[in-house]
Amino acid sequence: MRKIKFYWNKDTATLIAIRQWGKTTVIKELTNGIPKEKIIVLDSNREYNGFPNRWIPKAYDLEELDKFIRYCRQFKNRLLIIEDIDLFFSSANPTKELKNFLINGSHQDLGLIVTLKRPLGNPRLLMTESIHLFLGRFSLRNERDYLEDFLNSKGEIEKVKRFSFWYRNNDLDEEFLYKTRR
Ligand SMILES: Nc1ncnc2c1ncn2[C@@H]1O[C@H](COP(=O)(O)OP(=O)(O)OP(=O)(O)O)[C@@H](O)[C@H]1O
Ligand SMILES: [Mg+2]
Repeated sequence: MRKIKFYWNKDTATLIAIRQWGKTTVIKELTNGIPKEKIIVLDSNREYNGFPNRWIPKAYDLEELDKFIRYCRQFKNRLLIIEDIDLFFSSANPTKELKNFLINGSHQDLGLIVTLKRPLGNPRLLMTESIHLFLGRFSLRNERDYLEDFLNSKGEIEKVKRFSFWYRNNDLDEEFLYKTRR
């Protein structure tokens, strides 16, 4: 398997897969070795015990998402993790803070990893502005078609097995299969 260079205080990664596919495991692999104090997590599913900078959402709406991003903007050299960002959206429109972050977060030395369970009905900006894409298998034709619109490879997503992802690097225009190691 080829190596993924993830610059934790610059890069943006988007992971899309159904529940229990292995998204959080990929995040653990990408963030292995990064001091936990550098990570700020919007912990939608209460999975990040032991992380000092854990934000448990009080609501699942656009205001809460933007509040979190605004809070993180006061720092430099941090990695933001937003689990299940689709819980906060009610349409495919990005919020103001998310849009700004995706466009200029790296200039502030802030990285971002987001996970989603469904490809459709979410801002397409996550696909176009993220450097790293990790895509699981989806059974619906229109979900696969939507994702393949962003890829060079056709027919790969439907072959992906649990705990594996079709990986695309938008900067390098490179795609390959990524398997979690456990
Ligand atoms: N390569 C692997 N082999 C065996 N088990 C694995 C592997 N990768 C992950 N798992 C296990 O599968 C389960 C689901 O993984 P994980 O929590 O990463 O999925 P997820 O997509 O984040 O799930 P959720 O949608 O519920 O957040 C976990 O118990 C994890 O330890
Ligand atoms: Mg998870």
